[in-house]
Amino acid sequence: MNNLIDIMEMSTEEIQELIDKALDIIDNPQKYSDVCRGKILATLFFEPSTRTRLSFESAMYGLGGNVIGFSDSKSSSTSKGESVSDTVRTVGCYADIIAMRHPKEGAPLVASRSAGVPVINAGDGGHNHPTQTLTDLLTIYREKGTLENLTVGFCGDLKFGRTVHSLISAMSRYKGIRFILISPEELQVPRYIITDILEKNNIPYEEVTSLEDSMPKLDILYMTRVQRERFFNEADYMRLKDTYILTPDKLRNAKESLSILHPLPRVNEISVAVDKDPRAIYFKQVANGKYIRMALIMKLLEVNA
Ligand code: NCD
Repeated sequence: MNNLIDIMEMSTEEIQELIDKALDIIDNPQKYSDVCRGKILATLFFEPSTRTRLSFESAMYGLGGNVIGFSDSKSSSTSKGESVSDTVRTVGCYADIIAMRHPKEGAPLVASRSAGVPVINAGDGGHNHPTQTLTDLLTIYREKGTLENLTVGFCGDLKFGRTVHSLISAMSRYKGIRFILISPEELQVPRYIITDILEKNNIPYEEVTSLEDSMPKLDILYMTRVQRERFFNEADYMRLKDTYILTPDKLRNAKESLSILHPLPRVNEISVAVDKDPRAIYFKQVANGKYIRMALIMKLLEVNA
């Protein structure tokens, strides 16, 4: 049985197959509209979500399947003290595939051991978010026509931002990638990413604090929200939350060909005035999330058009 817990479980070839499938779905949605008839996706969201949960649900409906689940763990038996293992073992009796988001790092991995059906990690604490990474890779591929030879800047909360951890890991396997990691010192990328991914594979990277200084070098700018819910105290959050605010003015030295991504939700870190700039593609990124999840569900359920 297949799960997707960590993006590094997929080879770059498998990722490319999913991207190609998503591109075909975009061009020929009709061809796929019935391939999951009779199948059920369960979305178990123990943390808030708009895009991830609804894109999974929309993806399953787009494949002709059905959806069950909960978007608030307070309405599930978790609130009575049930373990993750027992919950997913139960859900595995009612669904063919499970997408799960949980505040505890590793919870989807634990779930995958007792579910009896494929489990997809839809975000686990400050750890990983592999389906956002698939979304990001499809978005970059559609924009640039390649995933190679790019200077990628990550800006904001690189410590707690799970989308950042998964995307750095995934992109480190493509040729000619260099990273510029832009954050306050307190919110730098966790050491294990530096040692186990970047240094181990000799990937060029810089850790810097200035967004403006880095701007002219970037092909991709991946902005992120400061992850308030992962902070130990509110005072630190208040001090750091507005460290970076992208405005049209700050884009003056950026390349014409820059692509600005953000997994969303945005709080203050991108001014709405930037939305009009053709380089801002975070809402295209939202749309791509549905198609790549359609491709992923098909793969894990082993269905074909
Ligand atoms: C992200 C997440 O949940 O990690 N959102 C998403 O899934 N698109 C980013 C965030 O919450 O800041």
